[in-house]
Amino acid sequence: FSSYEYIKVEKKGKNGCVQLIQLNRPKALNALCNALLMELGDSLRAGEADESVAAFVLTGSERSFAAGADIKEMQDMTLQGCIKNQFLSNWDVLAKVRKPVIAAVNGYALGGGCEIAMMCDIIFAGEKAKFGQPEINLGTIPGAGGTQRLIRAVGKSLAMEMCLSGLPIDAKKALSFGLVSRVCPPDKLVDEAIQLGEKIAQQSKLIVSICKDAVNSSYELGLQEGLKCEKRLFYTTFGTEDRREGMTAFVEKRAPKFVEN
Ligand code: CAA
Repeated sequence: FSSYEYIKVEKKGKNGCVQLIQLNRPKALNALCNALLMELGDSLRAGEADESVAAFVLTGSERSFAAGADIKEMQDMTLQGCIKNQFLSNWDVLAKVRKPVIAAVNGYALGGGCEIAMMCDIIFAGEKAKFGQPEINLGTIPGAGGTQRLIRAVGKSLAMEMCLSGLPIDAKKALSFGLVSRVCPPDKLVDEAIQLGEKIAQQSKLIVSICKDAVNSSYELGLQEGLKCEKRLFYTTFGTEDRREGMTAFVEKRAPKFVEN
C-alpha cells in the first residue's frame, strides 16, 4: 500500500472494515493521470480481495476531489492513439467493483472527476463541492460516462445544461437533483462516509453485493427485465446461510451473525 505515489490508502472503521482511498496529487488538483488511475485500480483490486474490507470510501482533498482527466497528458493525443490504447477504458474498474464504493466529494469534481464520482454507488458532498462537465470548454465532450450517467442522475435538462455550457453546479443543487444523497460540512464529510461504510459492514457482505447488483441492474435494464432480474437475485438470497441466519435471528429476537463473504 505504501508504494503509491498518487493515492493514499488506509484502513478505517471497526476492524479496518472500510478502505479509504484518497486521491493525492495536490499540485494538479488530483487530475486523473494514467499512473493515478493504475494505482486506483490496484488499490481497488487489493480491497476486493481483502476479506476484512466491506466497503470503500473514495475521496480527494478539501480543495479538489478531482479536476478531471489530465489535460496535459491529452494535449497531443490523436484519434488513432485513443483507439489503439483504448483511452480511458481502464477507468471502468471503479464501476465494476463488487463491494460498495462511497464517494466523499469536497471541492472540484469536474470532468473525469465528476464521472468517477458517478461510478461510485453513493455520493456524499461537502458544502463547497462543485460538480461539472467542462469538457466542452476544451473542444471535446465527456468520455467516461458524463453524457450517460449524469442524465440518469439529474435528468435531461440539467445534464444538457451542464454538458453544453460547461457550467458547474454546487452541492445544494446536486442534492436537490439527486446527484448526491447527503451534504455535510467539509471537515465532517469523510467521517460521515466512513460511518456509512461501517454500517454497511455490519450486513452480510454476500447479500450486500447481491443487493448492489440488483440496484445497478435498474441502470441497465427496462422495468420488466429489471423486475425479473431483481426476483432472481431475491430468490438467490434463499440459497445463502446469511438469509437463513437473518430471519432466524429476527424470530429469536437476537442480532444476526452474518458470515458469508
Ligand atoms: N489536467 C491537468 N492539470 C490540471 C487539471 C487537469 N484537468 N486541472 C488542474 N490542473 C493543474 C493546473 O494546470 C495547475 O498546474 P500548474 O500550476 O502546473 O499550472 C494546477 O492544477 C492548479 O490549477 P489552476 O491554477 O488552474 O487552479 P485554479 O484554482 O485557478 O482553478 C480549476 C481550478 C477551475 C479546477 C481549473 O484548474 C480547471 O478548470 N481545471 C480543468 C478542469 C477541466 O476542464 N476538467 C475536464 C478535463 S477533460 C476530461 O475530464 C475528459 C473526460 O471526460 C474523462
